[in-house]
Amino acid sequence: MTLRHLLPSCLLTMFLVTPGFAQQAADAVEPEEDTGISAFENLTDAAQEALAVKEAGEPVTAEEWMVVAANPLAVEAGADVLANGGTAADAMVAVQAVLGLVEPQSSGLGGGAFLVWYDAASGEMTTLDGRETAPLAASPTLFQDENGERLEFFDAVVGGLSVGTPGTPKLMEDAHRRWGRANWGDLLQPAITLAEDGFAVSPRMAAAVAGDAERLQRFAATAAYFFPDGEPVAEGSILQNPDYADTLRQIAAMGTDAFYTGPIAEDIVATVRNADGNPGVLSTLDLALYNVIERDPVCVAFRVYEVCGMGPPSSGALTVGQILGIIDNFDFDDPEDPNTWRLIGDASRLAFADRGRYMADSDFVPMPTQGLADPAYLEERASLIEGDSVALAEVAPGEPEWDHAQLWGDDVSIELPSTSHISIVDSYGNALSMTTTIENGFGSRLFVRGFLLNNELTDFSFSTHSDGYPIANRVEPGKRPRSSMSPTIVTEDGAPVLVIGSPGGSRIIGYVAKSIIAHLEWGMDVQQAVSMPHLVNRFGTYDVEEGTDAVAFETPLTELGYEVNVRGLNSGLHAIAIGKELSGGADPRREGIAIGD
Ligand code: GLY
Repeated sequence: MTLRHLLPSCLLTMFLVTPGFAQQAADAVEPEEDTGISAFENLTDAAQEALAVKEAGEPVTAEEWMVVAANPLAVEAGADVLANGGTAADAMVAVQAVLGLVEPQSSGLGGGAFLVWYDAASGEMTTLDGRETAPLAASPTLFQDENGERLEFFDAVVGGLSVGTPGTPKLMEDAHRRWGRANWGDLLQPAITLAEDGFAVSPRMAAAVAGDAERLQRFAATAAYFFPDGEPVAEGSILQNPDYADTLRQIAAMGTDAFYTGPIAEDIVATVRNADGNPGVLSTLDLALYNVIERDPVCVAFRVYEVCGMGPPSSGALTVGQILGIIDNFDFDDPEDPNTWRLIGDASRLAFADRGRYMADSDFVPMPTQGLADPAYLEERASLIEGDSVALAEVAPGEPEWDHAQLWGDDVSIELPSTSHISIVDSYGNALSMTTTIENGFGSRLFVRGFLLNNELTDFSFSTHSDGYPIANRVEPGKRPRSSMSPTIVTEDGAPVLVIGSPGGSRIIGYVAKSIIAHLEWGMDVQQAVSMPHLVNRFGTYDVEEGTDAVAFETPLTELGYEVNVRGLNSGLHAIAIGKELSGGADPRREGIAIGD
C-alpha cells in the first residue's frame, strides 16, 4: 500500500493557494479512481457531507462547535456529544474510546497522550501529561544486550520490554473530572456499542494489518483478533471486539480503578511479563501508582501570536516554538522561494540540535526550559542563518541560559511514526488539542482485554551516554520518555485562533510548524495549510514529500547544500481555525474528517 492509495483525490486541489504551486500540484498528482472510503458508507449525513467537503479540498465551517479526528466513526461520536451540550473534554472521551477500537494501530487504552486545554471561562491554558512511564524495575540499560550493545529497534519494540505504564485511561478520566459535564459512562457507550455490534474495518486499518502480518502474528491473542481464520481483517469487513466492550463497561461503571487495579491490571502485567521471547518488567505496582501530571504550558511568541503546547517530557512545544521563534526574526512571505525553506529547514536543524542535547523528562533531569524559549536566545540562534546564504555546514546545540552546570551527551533514540491527533472546540468556547499514541504502529503488538499495549519506552535513548556524558533521555525507573507530540493551541490577545496537532514521530514537529506558518503567515485556509506538501528537516537531510509539487524543490535545495530525500511523509494533521466562524481541516493523507455545527 503506497501513500497515494490512501489519499483522496482532493489532494489534487488543495496543496497551496499560490497559483504556481496549485498548478504544479495538479500536474503532479493524478486523481484516484478509488477514494478508499467504501468502509464509511453507513455514516451519518453530517459525516458524509464532511467527507465530500474534504474531497473538494475545502475546510468545514461551523458556528458553535467542531471536532476533527482520524476516523469518521470517532468524529461522529464526538459530534454527538458536542451537539448535546457536552464539552470538548466530554467529546474527547467519546472520540478516544472509539479511536481505540477503529484505529487500534495508533492509539488506545494501552497508550499515552498529551492534552492542551484552553478554558473559555478563565482564559487560562492547562496542559495534562498522560505519558506512559517506565516501570520501577527498568534500568538505563533496558535496551542493551548482555554485551552492552544497543538492541535492534524492532527487537526492542515487539514484546513486553518496551511497554510503559499506560496513561490514556487516566488522562480521559482526569480531563472529564476537570472539565466534563456529561455522564462518564454515557461517553463510553458509542464505543461499547460499536465494539459489540461490530464496525467496518477502514482501508487504512486493513492495509496496516496486512502490512505488519509477521509481527502481529507472533502473539496468539493479537493474531486471533487481527487475523480471524488466519487472514488479515479485510477492508469493509465487520469486526467485533467484545473484550474491548467489556473493558470499557468496567471503566464506565467503576472508573479507571477498574483498569489500573484488579483483574485488568493483572492481565496487562501478565501479558507483558510472559511475552514470548521478549518479556518486560511492568508490575501491578506501576499501574496502581500511575498519575496524570498537570504542567505549565510552554508558549513561544511568533508574530502577534503565542504558540502554546506541551512542555517536557514532550519536546513538541519547545521545538515547534524554537523553529517559529527563530524564523520570527526574518521575512519569508514566499513559500515558492527556496530561501524560505532554507530558513525554515535550518531553524529546524538548530532546534533539533537543542532537542537532542537538552530535552527529556524534567522531573528527572534539570532542563533549561525557559532559556530554550527565550526570545533573546532564539534571536542569537537566528543570527546563525541570516543572509541569502547556503545551508549551515555544521549544526550544534546552543548554550541557553541555565542555572545548572551539568553537561549532557546528544540523544540517540529512534522514533518511527504512528499516533493520532484530536482537535475540538465546544459551544462554550473551550478548545482542546490532544495527541494520543501507542508509539509504533500496533505498539508492542501485545493485545490484551481488547486493546494493544504501547511500546513507548523505545522513545527513550537506547544508549546511556554519549562521548562520556550522560544522555538526558536515558531510561530511568518511573521516568517518562521524551516525546515529539505537539498538541498546540495558538492564541492572539489571549484568545485561541488555531487548534492543531499531528502524528508522525519526530516529524510531527515539522508538520505542525509548517502548517502554523502556512495558515498564519501565508494566509492559507486551514484545509490548505494541512494539505500543503511537506518539506521537513530535522538532522540535515531535507525530506520532501513524494508525489507532490514539493518535489520541485529537490534541485534548488540540493544546490543550497542539502542532501534531499524524496519520500512519503505521512502526517495526520487535524486543525480548527477560530475566527468569526470555526473552520476545520483534516489531513488528506489519512481518513479523518471535521464535523461542526
Ligand atoms: N511516540 C511518539 C511520540 O511520543 O513522539
